[in-house]
Amino acid sequence: MTTPAPLQNDLLLRALLREPTERTPVWMMRQAGRYLPEYRATRQRAGDFMTLCRTPELACEVTLQPLERFRLDAAILFSDILTIPDAMGLGLHFVTGEGPRFERTVRDEAAVDALPIPDPEDELRYVPDAVRLIRQELNGRVPLIGFAGSPWTLATYMIEGSSSKNYAWCKGMLYDRPDLMHRLLDKTARAVTAYLNAQIAAGAQSLMIFDTWGGVLTPQTYREFSLRYAEQIISGLSKTAEGRRVPVVFFTKNGGPWLEAMAGFGADGLGIDWTQDIGDARRRVGDRVALQGNLDPSALYASPTVIEQHVGEILASYGTGTGHVFNLGHGIHPEVNPDHAGAMIEAVHALSPRYHQG
Ligand code: CP3
Repeated sequence: MTTPAPLQNDLLLRALLREPTERTPVWMMRQAGRYLPEYRATRQRAGDFMTLCRTPELACEVTLQPLERFRLDAAILFSDILTIPDAMGLGLHFVTGEGPRFERTVRDEAAVDALPIPDPEDELRYVPDAVRLIRQELNGRVPLIGFAGSPWTLATYMIEGSSSKNYAWCKGMLYDRPDLMHRLLDKTARAVTAYLNAQIAAGAQSLMIFDTWGGVLTPQTYREFSLRYAEQIISGLSKTAEGRRVPVVFFTKNGGPWLEAMAGFGADGLGIDWTQDIGDARRRVGDRVALQGNLDPSALYASPTVIEQHVGEILASYGTGTGHVFNLGHGIHPEVNPDHAGAMIEAVHALSPRYHQG
């Protein structure tokens, strides 16, 4: 990349490294998405979701849309976690109203062994290309977050072929053929590591690993089949770029029971959903990691006054000092009124400075 513009707002990076900030930074999971009419218009122009992801100019356009509306402290690359299994040849498409579907599944030894590890600058080149373009267009306004799915979460889709209720095939493999599950997870972890390093090389300034389905495991299997591979990825990442550390946030939905284990494996920050009190979470992780979260996305159905109250409660519960990145506890719902998202963001701007004095 040509010399990047200096970062004008580095609140996110400082908060994730638990360095002092003037206020709490804020962004939203799925901040570029269907709740925004301008997103729906671009998606319609693209024709379908994967074309949107595969066209860097369009991916860049939708990445920047929420930043035009709201005073956000980060941009997140517009893409999807399922780009990797797609590039492994599983044939991804999205069925409207039903979510992702793969043409092929990975349920036996032959299928696991046949999976290639995609070259991120080849089959997945549209992703680092989008990162490069977004960095150029952001021109230093806020940091850009890159992301990938955790190997466990990706494996659930690769094995089931779609979203799932009981994870019958996937948990079947885990309990019946743990050796094969480990082979699949190891391969996926190597693919994710290369992919995230390519995003860093292209200009991602922070990373998120989404372990959306880690919470369906038991305490033992969570460590063995989810956390262990997140650890493998993090230990294989380039830790700095452009002279700064690239902080990594790990998010396990329903990961509350295992926060202590999550706090000690190498992530700089943990994403937490709304099922925990963020103050309790802070006491449990101590000064080992930053925390990102955790407003219930459904709170945005309420009026701005109520939203402001809930934002205030979360900020108060976290308390004084750095190490908090305000976010939703999961992605914003498509039915939310964009002005309500704006109310949440403005509330963080208005209410958080008092927790960062001295
Ligand atoms: O946060 C952002 O703004 C960046 C974009 C982003 C998308 N997906 C775009 C998207 C990110 C970070 C993701 C991650 C993702 N994708 C996860 C992990 C995070 C989470 O929400 O738990 C998962 C599990 C997926 C897989 C996936 N992608 C599903 C199950 C679906 C269909 C259901 C749904 O939520 O819509 C998608 C589609 C998808 N990915 C959409 C968007 C904006 C909606 C597609 C559309 O426009 O119709």
